[in-house]
Amino acid sequence: ARTVKLAVIAGDGIGPEVVAEGLNVLSAVAPAHGLHIDTTEYELGAKRWHATGETLPDSVEAELRGHDAILLGAIGDPTVPSGVLERGLLLRLRFAFSHYINLRPVRLYPGVTTPLAAVAPEDIDMLVVREGTEGPYAGMGGVLRKGTPGEIATQDSVNTRFGVERVVRFAFAKAAERPRRKLTLVHKDNVLTFAGELWQRVVREVGAEYPGVEVDYLHVDAATMFFVSQPRRFDVVVTDNLFGDIITDLGAAVAGGIGLAASGNINPERDFPSMFEPVHGSAPDIAGQGTADPTATILSVALLLDHLGLPEAAAQVERAVAADLEERAKSPRERSTARIGAEIAERVTGQG
Ligand code: IPM
Ligand code: MN
Repeated sequence: ARTVKLAVIAGDGIGPEVVAEGLNVLSAVAPAHGLHIDTTEYELGAKRWHATGETLPDSVEAELRGHDAILLGAIGDPTVPSGVLERGLLLRLRFAFSHYINLRPVRLYPGVTTPLAAVAPEDIDMLVVREGTEGPYAGMGGVLRKGTPGEIATQDSVNTRFGVERVVRFAFAKAAERPRRKLTLVHKDNVLTFAGELWQRVVREVGAEYPGVEVDYLHVDAATMFFVSQPRRFDVVVTDNLFGDIITDLGAAVAGGIGLAASGNINPERDFPSMFEPVHGSAPDIAGQGTADPTATILSVALLLDHLGLPEAAAQVERAVAADLEERAKSPRERSTARIGAEIAERVTGQG
């Protein structure tokens, strides 16, 4: 048996509800793959901040470092000033653990309703590789003459050669493994000329090592249009942190909603634990009601299993989710968060 040391940060709002179901499904899939999941829960988020003023104590960061992976529910609460938990906890973890790949598959599962007219599941099957440690998220910039009419706020986008190259390399490697072998760089190089030129040049240079991968480029504004009008254009998409944030919410919307969108904050070298989380937020408006859809978290567990080198276990979870989604289409029922989790877990077990 292999022991997986998993840190669990359920977080705020619906986080604890969806994470419980992710763990349920993980327990269901583990035995058949000789896995023993050793979980440690960390109380982080709004409650801790209110109680102690802490977002992520150094000692907790050090403990998290000793795990094989992290499962995170959601961070953020209307009672906490915007940015405190996002920067102090979520982004801090992404930066500290060098999660330079923010992997966000956008797939339309059979049976799932999309707002797009006339698309079939095979029309929406992309992998967005969002950079996770740089761009405007880096926190560079500042405020001058605050509170005066002459106030100036700058928020610089950081793009290092090193940072751009490593994410572009990862994206090419992924594209080379997929049947369509296409990579689209999404940026805004007609306006963000410094950063855009760097991204373009790196894509050209790394692309020379992947002659089998077709390379395309789209400005981010056009990309949002084509996500809706021609999602088939996209296979692997590589883009910076902020553009990736925005287009993956759109991706979630076209592929059945934010309740299904999974993500992995990945450090491919495994120098640090990678962290898996649904793309959605803490949804305080529906927290505690047992109505949140845990599917995004369960699909994030599949990404976790894949990252741990267990593609069969990951596929088993994905198949169980796909079957559940097809059944939702055939016989729609009101189901609680726990019910959905339990039924997906049953399907996982049923596959043996
Ligand atoms: C996401 C979220 C985060 C981000 C926020 C909560 C900081 O929107 O994971 O997409 O912007 O990356
Ligand atoms: Mn987002």
